[in-house]
Amino acid sequence: MIDINFNDDNAKNFILGREVDSMQERVEHLHVALENKTGQGSDSLGWLHLPSLTPPSLFDSIYSAQREIREQCNTFVCIGIGGSYLGTRAAISFLKSSSSEGKATEILFAGNTLCSDYHAELLQSLEDREVCINLVSKSGTTLESSIAFRLLRSFMEKKYGKKGASRRTFVTTGSQKNLINDLAKAEGYRCFHIPDDVGGRFSVLTLAGLLPISVAGIDIRALMDGALLAEKELTRSSDLALNKAYLYAVYRHLLFQKGKYIELMAAFNTSFEYVLEWWKQLAGESEGKKGKGIFPASVHYTTGLHSLGQLIQEGNRNLFETFLLIDKSSKVIEIERSNSGQDGLGYLEGKSLDFINEKAYKGSASAHLEGGVPNLAITLKERSSYNLGQLFYFFERAIAMTGYLSGINPFDQPGVELYKKKMFGLLNNPNIKKGK
Ligand code: PA5
Repeated sequence: MIDINFNDDNAKNFILGREVDSMQERVEHLHVALENKTGQGSDSLGWLHLPSLTPPSLFDSIYSAQREIREQCNTFVCIGIGGSYLGTRAAISFLKSSSSEGKATEILFAGNTLCSDYHAELLQSLEDREVCINLVSKSGTTLESSIAFRLLRSFMEKKYGKKGASRRTFVTTGSQKNLINDLAKAEGYRCFHIPDDVGGRFSVLTLAGLLPISVAGIDIRALMDGALLAEKELTRSSDLALNKAYLYAVYRHLLFQKGKYIELMAAFNTSFEYVLEWWKQLAGESEGKKGKGIFPASVHYTTGLHSLGQLIQEGNRNLFETFLLIDKSSKVIEIERSNSGQDGLGYLEGKSLDFINEKAYKGSASAHLEGGVPNLAITLKERSSYNLGQLFYFFERAIAMTGYLSGINPFDQPGVELYKKKMFGLLNNPNIKKGK
C-alpha cells in the first residue's frame, strides 16, 4: 500500500457519503477511458504508465551523464520553465533543503523568469565556479528558456572555449525536429529526449526531471520505485474505497460544484515549498478550461496562520483547504528543560517540534472547519525520494481524474497561447507575422 494517507473527516459535513458514492460509476467509466486511451487528450497519456515502462537502460544513461557532469562541475544550472522546471525544483527542495551534505553538486536555476537582475546575479555568481548547464525545453521555442540558454552559452564559451563549453552543455528536449535538436547536433551537445506523449507538467519522471534530480544527489531509482508503487495501486482499482487519488479527485469535484472554487493547499513542513508550486501548475494548467477549474492556491503554515489565517477563518466562504503533511520529520528537535522558565514555555518542555506542529495542524483544521472551510488532509509517511515519487504520481492521477470529471481535456493548455501571441507581437517576432 502507498505511504500516503487521505483523510476526509473534516469535509463530511459538506459532502455526504451518498454524494461520494454516487460518483463511483462515473469514476469507473473515466478510469477505463484513461486506461484504454479513449478519453480527451489520449495522445498525452505517456505519464500514466511511465514508472513501469521506463527501461533500466534509461537509468544507465542518466548515471553515466550524471558522473560526467559531477566530475566536471560543482554547479549545475538547469534552464527551463513551467513543467520543464518545477518538478526538478520540487524534488530538490523537498529532499535537500535541510541536507547537510556539503559535497553534492549545487543546482541553480535559470530561464524561469525574464528578470534581468536575477540573471545578472546568477552569471556573476558562476564566475568562480565549475559549471555545467542543462537546457530543458520540450518545444525548444520557449522564450524564457531560449534567452537564458543564449546568455549561459555565451558565458560558458567565454569561460571554457567553444569545445569545453560543448562538453559541459546538456540539452533535454522533444524527439521531433526542433531548434534545440538542430543546435545540439551542430554544437555537439549531449542530447536527451522527453517522450512525445508526456506533457511538460507531467514530465518530472522523464529525463526532464530525472537527470538534474540525479545530479543533485537524489536517489532517482527510489523516486521511480515510489511512483511505480503508486502506479500499481492507483491502476489496480477505481473503487473509491481503495483508490485514494480518485477519492481526493471526487471531493475536489464535489466541493467545486458546491461553490468552493479555491483549493488552498497548506503545508506544515517548509520542504514542501516547491512541491506546492509544482502542484499549482499541475492543477491550474490542467483544469482551468471552459470556464471551469478550481483555483489552486498555497500557503505555508504556521507562517500563513499569522497572515492569511484571518481571511481563511472569516472571509468569503468560497474555499476548501487541503493539508499536506508528513508523519515524521527527518530530524527531531525537542524543547529543552530550562531552570528559569521565564519564557513561559515550561508546559512544552520535553515535547518535540513535530508534536507542537501537529497540534497547530489539528487546531487550525478544527478552527477552519468551524469557520465553514471544509478540509482534507494528505499525509506522507516520511520525507524520502520513495514517498515523493508516490506523491508525484498520486497528484497526477488525481488531477487527471478531476479534469475528466469536469469534462475538459486536462492535458492541453490552449489558454497560454494568447499572451504569447500578444507579447511576441509587441516584440516584433517575425514568426508571428508568418503565423508560426
Ligand atoms: O506543462 C506544460 O506543458 C508547460 O508548463 C511547459 O512545460 C512550459 O511552458 C515549458 O515548455 P517547454 O518545455 O516546451 O519549454
